[in-house]
Amino acid sequence: MAIPRETVEQILQAAHIEEVVGEFVTLKKRGSNMWGNCPFHNEKTPSFSVNPARNIFKCFGCGKAGDSAKFLMEHEHLTYWEALRYLAKKYNIKYEEKELTAEEIMQQQTREKMFNINEFADKYFVDTLWNTEEGKTIGLNYFHGRGYLNPIIEKFHLGYNPIQRDAFTIYAKEHGYSEELLEQIGLSIKNDNGIYDRYHGRVMFPIHNLTGRIIGFGGRIMVDNKKSPKYQNSPESEIYDKKQTLYGIYFAKNAIAKNDECILVEGYFDVLRMHQIGIENVVASSGTSLTMEQIRLVKRYTKNITMLYDGDAAGIHAALRGTDMILSEGMSVRVVVLPPEHDPDTFGRDFSVEYVTHYLKDNAKDFLRFKTELLLKDAENDPIKRGQVIRDIIETISIIPDAIYRVSYVKECSQLLDIPEQTLINELNKILRAKFKKSLGIDNNTVPETDKSPSQNQEELLEDQLPAGYYQERELVKLLLLYGSKLITDERIDEEGQRIYEQVSVAQFIVDDLKNDGFVFTNAVNKKIFDIFDRAIDEGRIPDDSFFVSHEDETIAQLAVDLLSSPYKLDQWEKYGIFVKQEENVLRATVLSSIYRYKDLIIEDRRKAVEEELKATSDLDDQLILLKRKKDLDDIRKQINKELGIVIAK
Ligand code: CTP
Ligand code: MN
Repeated sequence: MAIPRETVEQILQAAHIEEVVGEFVTLKKRGSNMWGNCPFHNEKTPSFSVNPARNIFKCFGCGKAGDSAKFLMEHEHLTYWEALRYLAKKYNIKYEEKELTAEEIMQQQTREKMFNINEFADKYFVDTLWNTEEGKTIGLNYFHGRGYLNPIIEKFHLGYNPIQRDAFTIYAKEHGYSEELLEQIGLSIKNDNGIYDRYHGRVMFPIHNLTGRIIGFGGRIMVDNKKSPKYQNSPESEIYDKKQTLYGIYFAKNAIAKNDECILVEGYFDVLRMHQIGIENVVASSGTSLTMEQIRLVKRYTKNITMLYDGDAAGIHAALRGTDMILSEGMSVRVVVLPPEHDPDTFGRDFSVEYVTHYLKDNAKDFLRFKTELLLKDAENDPIKRGQVIRDIIETISIIPDAIYRVSYVKECSQLLDIPEQTLINELNKILRAKFKKSLGIDNNTVPETDKSPSQNQEELLEDQLPAGYYQERELVKLLLLYGSKLITDERIDEEGQRIYEQVSVAQFIVDDLKNDGFVFTNAVNKKIFDIFDRAIDEGRIPDDSFFVSHEDETIAQLAVDLLSSPYKLDQWEKYGIFVKQEENVLRATVLSSIYRYKDLIIEDRRKAVEEELKATSDLDDQLILLKRKKDLDDIRKQINKELGIVIAK
């Protein structure tokens, strides 16, 4: 069947892009557009815009754009007609479907059939649970026995598959479903003796995708039995990709966005329990280790993940495994470890909501503190192990994309580990440099081609060919974009030799400092952004990041989108009660050290050039002039390094 042409128009007009997109992406209004993190590419700062007036979306990061149907096709992997049907249903537009060609039927069928049979199976399992003797006495009793109440059993569509080995399979075949499809979707298993229910004698958990359609099932055995695994799960299929799935996301997504936090647990029952006691921003990784795709799924709704794990060793290690991945996405992670012997399910069963809520609040530890304390406890006083712990922690800090946040962590870590900050910074820089070189090896756009032989160390060559201060220049531009309007304290000596302090914006601080000392960015785009700030400061205003992201000069917009890949805003610190006192100090230290590092590299480069000239000339007068210049540059470097030392030591 197909949709008549005139209806297509009607559907597309009725669809409000912000409502369609809003089901999948958290959007915030800014100006006449709405903004969110692009669901099509990995990004840390919103560059995905929705224009309600023109009824279109566009991502300034990856370039994807279009109307509601296009969005659904890209996002939900629907065909054009599936997208239109979805919209027609959403906006309650009725129409007579016309006959489809055989080819069209083939095209849309497989996925639709799979969703269909899952829905059919779900109805059967739910019906069997509530309305058959066996379902009631065995299945429903099992849920009740574990302390689950009817509303939660209904909400999550929990069900029951009878003990008779082929009860469901026979029922489905009677209703026209083929053995082939039953086997494909995994509801039935075929062997030499026949075809049987995968889940016979189990209570059933349907697994929903973001839009609430059922993509698979999990079934739990009710009497633990060594011969049979505790859970049977659907195999993957055209509609079920395990690494992209989080159990409970459909029921949790609104609460996640509303609370700006996602609580991550391990099991089906952990999700149920939390919901039952009223904590609804909870999803489960379903026993497998967390994937990047799952983390990005959460990231559409929040940047804050709280991992809630069992108090046993396995639970703690599961928590540790996930954190690095979450950090690398620029998200913030906290960890709550439950008392030994408890998982979220039993914890929620044995304690009051108030107690659980307070426990979560009081015991949520920033991942770094959690990891450091844990590892230190293991290492005790063994100096070799301690050394490993330090390297391990620094490695984790290096994963954090945002420089300011890294600096804060180094400070905190230096206290926890009782090691001088500078030692940690040196270690951290080593790792960062190695990573930076590695990233250059991949990024061909920013680096000229080399004709040296491949046997030579490619990474070394690449770094040599970059203009001096390349990386530092970028860092300064990023500070301008991210924190340009934040205030820091400027300390200077006035005409009468008095030390005075005043509050200036980061943008003004950087621009004035570099201009006064005659430094000019070499990269053309960086320079354009610098000049925009320079002019704006004169006019008494400071542009924000969105100004650059949607800048008409595409090179500027592109760079801004690239650089604004940093979700840690200073105001988040306040929210978590960490580093509040240090906020301004850390920002100031970061700005200063970025400026000094940049200058240091530029001066070093000039000094090298002078040395080259010295080698090339035999004229004594020239040599003297060059030597004097060299000494001046050395003095400046010494001064810079002294200042840098002070900033870092503070
Ligand atoms: N799991 C699985 N297969 C198993 C064991 C576990 O798929 N044989 C997955 C399930 O998604 C399960 C999760 O891992 O929910 C966590 O496992 P576990 O903590 O053992 O299960 P619970 O959900 O806590 O179930 P129960 O409380 O009934 O033991
Ligand atoms: Mn459990």
